[in-house]
Amino acid sequence: MSATEMRPLGERVVMAIETSCDETSVSIVRGGTEVLTNIVSSQIELHAGFGGVVPEVASRAHLEMLEPVINQALAEAGMAGTDLDAVAATHGPGLIGALLIGVSAAKALSLAWGIRYVGVNHMEGHLFATFLERPDLEPPLAVLLVSGGHTMIVHLEERGKYRICGSTIDDAAGEAFDKVARYLGLGYPGGPVVDKLALEGDRDAIGFPRGLINDGLDFSFSGMKTSVINYVRKNRDADNADLCAGFQEAVVDVLVTKTMRAAETFAVNGVCLGGGVAANSRLREVFAAEAEQRGFDCLVPSREYCTDNAAMIAAAAHWRLEHDGPTSLDDGAHPNLRLGAGG
Ligand code: KG4
Ligand code: ZN
Repeated sequence: MSATEMRPLGERVVMAIETSCDETSVSIVRGGTEVLTNIVSSQIELHAGFGGVVPEVASRAHLEMLEPVINQALAEAGMAGTDLDAVAATHGPGLIGALLIGVSAAKALSLAWGIRYVGVNHMEGHLFATFLERPDLEPPLAVLLVSGGHTMIVHLEERGKYRICGSTIDDAAGEAFDKVARYLGLGYPGGPVVDKLALEGDRDAIGFPRGLINDGLDFSFSGMKTSVINYVRKNRDADNADLCAGFQEAVVDVLVTKTMRAAETFAVNGVCLGGGVAANSRLREVFAAEAEQRGFDCLVPSREYCTDNAAMIAAAAHWRLEHDGPTSLDDGAHPNLRLGAGG
């Protein structure tokens, strides 16, 4: 393919690079939905000893891993760079050093291979994870996006038209999971550990408060995290499994109640989940059950498309390329990029 030609939409092949935080991921997707390969190289072990992501360590690891992961992706898809129609990268929000590794590589490859470059908003990528598996989902939708850095309910009126109708006023949901796990000495990242331990606990043994549950669509998790800490200070022999199950139940209760409230308020067709916390087993179960009870079409994406991955970035890039055309090579990385501003 040359820079002036592209295949028809349904056959268009996009490679995407995701390096906004602690996963180096490369995916090749045809026609916006057919995932030819989706490789995720996790840095969790590098950061675990520090109890959280260390930005400089993340940038160095992306630099080391990106080239081999790109080569592996091309090999798995049986393609050369010049067979692609476009190369995309997450250009924000995220850690500036980490973003720059992916953006610089994508722009260099765009020049070397003579193909278009597309910069993608990471949160729009999480939204497009829903369309990867259910391209038939008809907006309007209410999408709950829950990750380590963000918690929001998005009223998706149509593809590309987003209104954030609720967000957190303090910690993100994933951050609250991570902080509770760190306090309990369970390691990093906290979400998966709490999820696993909660399976052995009694979710009704300790009733934690549900922050702002009766008020509108915004969230507050900081007080819920503090209530776990206060409970442990007063009850030194509290069982970790019960603590995890009770805390998780409170978080899930608030997340699901508010998303269903938004869905009813805006009379949407369906409800969807996205972001790393959407991998949580209890959240997936309660979300699907409550959606069904209210008659909403519901999509809970496969876990591999909830946590950070480049396939969702390629899906969003495919759509952006069709609607806005390629991104200028003068464009850089935007660590504080918001949803709605350019994606
Ligand atoms: O979307 P993501 O992979 O990265 C960001 O964009 O932040 O989300 C990472 C977050 C972390 O806070 C992690 O603890 C949380 O998602 N997480 C979970 C689970 N798996 C990952 N939280 C609860 N339960 C899980 N099973
Ligand atoms: Zn993410």
